[in-house]
Amino acid sequence: MFTNNQIFAAPLAGITDRPFRTMVRKFSPDVPLVTEMISCHSLVQMRRGCIRNFDNYRDEVGPIGAQIFGAEPDIMANAARILADNGASWIDINMGCPVPKVATRAGAGAHLMRDHILAGKIISAVVHAVDIPVSIKTRLGWDDDHRDWLDLMHVAHDFGARFATLHGRTRAQLYVGPAQLPQIPSDCPLPIIANGDIANVAHVTDALGRGYAGAMVGRAMLGAPWILGVICGAAKRPENVGEIVLEHLENTLEYYGVQAGIPLFRKHAAWYSAGIANSSEFRIRVNSITDAGALKKTISEFWGCVDA
Ligand SMILES: Cc1cc2nc3c(=O)[nH]c(=O)nc-3n(C[C@H](O)[C@H](O)[C@H](O)COP(=O)(O)O)c2cc1C
Repeated sequence: MFTNNQIFAAPLAGITDRPFRTMVRKFSPDVPLVTEMISCHSLVQMRRGCIRNFDNYRDEVGPIGAQIFGAEPDIMANAARILADNGASWIDINMGCPVPKVATRAGAGAHLMRDHILAGKIISAVVHAVDIPVSIKTRLGWDDDHRDWLDLMHVAHDFGARFATLHGRTRAQLYVGPAQLPQIPSDCPLPIIANGDIANVAHVTDALGRGYAGAMVGRAMLGAPWILGVICGAAKRPENVGEIVLEHLENTLEYYGVQAGIPLFRKHAAWYSAGIANSSEFRIRVNSITDAGALKKTISEFWGCVDA
């Protein structure tokens, strides 16, 4: 129903890592998806924290946008070069992250909605640094009194961005309350991807009807990496979700090792099990397990996998 470049997987810090992306790709091999955001400083200095979510993207199937955040144009440009050299399909600049560490203390993320001059300098520096497309991801504005997203789209266009994602909430709204996706006016200079509460075909159809070029799925992917495939019409919800959970766990253990991988997987186990009978007992059990074999057995038993 929709083309592959109309449905995007959102960047989700702590979630859209390589093991999760592999699961999304299993059901929708060609959809564009975006990495977790990476600090430009950490990337340029190759600090430990960023190594965890910095990959060589060349061997990943399908288009992958690498997302960076920061406030210094030169450092953002250097970070973009590193990501482009490592196989990113495009660079996405974070202009919407509301957390104080990013938006207030670092002057990055959502702060750039308040400083369009700096936003323009960053976009320009990144566009000139790489040969791949550059996009921005932003929100409606800082708060209800400053819903000036369209102005930022003009800035982004003037400095060379090729498209943008608009999350239908303000910075003040954080992630609370329903997203509101405004009609895209005919003078909007960039193709805009709709984001916020997109979870099914009807939501995408509605966004396209409002003038958006596509739609980006965020939290609806949690515990449901197949959802983009379902929306695109490329896949169905798997019959045995337990097999998918085990495959995701396997990817996680292979990528991070057992010691780091098991704690990281707990939240995924919780999302996969949400709404199923006895899921709270399952979650309590999973949270106490530190052994890979025991975790696999618990998952297999919960979902009634054949080898349980
Ligand atoms: C846990 C979490 C992590 C997120 N990490 C990022 C991020 O790294 N970069 C970004 O641009 N947005 C990030 N977001 C925002 C999402 O990409 C998306 O804009 C937001 O969740 C709204 O879409 P949804 O309603 O479909 O979830 C994050 C959101 C959540 C809940």
